Amino acid sequence: MENKVKELCDAASSAINAVADLKALDDIRVKFLGKKSEITTLVKVMNELSAEEKPRVGKIINDARNQIKNLIDEKKAALKAQELQNKLASEKIDVTLSGRKIYRGHLHPLTLTLNRVKEIFISMGYSVEEGPEVETDYFNFEALTLPKDHPARDMQDSFYITEEILLRTQTSPVQARTMQKNSNNAPIRMIAPGRVYRRDDYDASHSPMFTQVEGLVVDEGITFADLKGTLDFFCKKIFGETAQIRLRPSFFPFTEPSTEVDVSCMMCHGSDEHCKVCHGSGWLEILGAGMVHPDVLSMSGYAPSKVSGFAFGMGIERIAMLTYGIDDLRYFFENDTRFLHQF
Ligand code: PHE
Repeated sequence: MENKVKELCDAASSAINAVADLKALDDIRVKFLGKKSEITTLVKVMNELSAEEKPRVGKIINDARNQIKNLIDEKKAALKAQELQNKLASEKIDVTLSGRKIYRGHLHPLTLTLNRVKEIFISMGYSVEEGPEVETDYFNFEALTLPKDHPARDMQDSFYITEEILLRTQTSPVQARTMQKNSNNAPIRMIAPGRVYRRDDYDASHSPMFTQVEGLVVDEGITFADLKGTLDFFCKKIFGETAQIRLRPSFFPFTEPSTEVDVSCMMCHGSDEHCKVCHGSGWLEILGAGMVHPDVLSMSGYAPSKVSGFAFGMGIERIAMLTYGIDDLRYFFENDTRFLHQF
């Protein structure tokens, strides 16, 4: 019996020594100490021993069991420590390594510019209106006093969808929409930003799609001086306090009188005849404007005998190009991240 137990202990001890992972160690535990193990069988055999023999043999078996159990516990602790060691080594972080740069998304330069324009007009009490990009011929042209055969339609070569529906060529249809929405003829002070479409070739200064901001003010006693003052204020806010404006006579069918507005060149202030931005003229065209034509007012339900108004329309791409010093419109639409990351 004693030899048998010693053999078992030796076998267990060498098995435990050789084991390399916790799962195999547990298998050994089951094999040497489990219900079906030889030790358990020996305990059963013990019942057949005499009363004198029992305590002695019982002690031998118990000692053997404790010895194996201790060996297993020690090995278990050692394996666990080893496992932790391996884990720490494999997850080691080199804190001296410089970090990888995380690129965060941000607003597109056109959105940034549009937001600035909106802020300036909102600060003057303007509301922000919207109109559809797929527009009717009526709102895009006719309600702005451009009947079907009007030659000024040629100024804006258009994408027609049907005879009566087109991609809007300008944000001016929102003028008529806003007036017609106001059935109580309330005074209007609004801007309408949005995309517009024209059959233009795609080059450094033209794109078949671009962004405009329309402005419309209608109330009693609105004069050309209000238009001029508003645009002067706007230009100083967006281009800087030293910016000046110049008004040139122009023509739009829906305003009378009409004007094109130039802003003083913020690059050379007119001092450089080779200036890339203004080509030495000192002035840059930035928008079209004028007093709302009485026919436009009456077609949309306002009485020109009581109220008057002014309107303007500007291109956001052009303003962004001037404020950021960009010389090619196409950068805005090509989504080259090397360009976009600069804003
Ligand atoms: N809609 C005109 C254009 O796109 C600009 C404009 C708007 C002119 C409002 C006068 C008044 O050219």
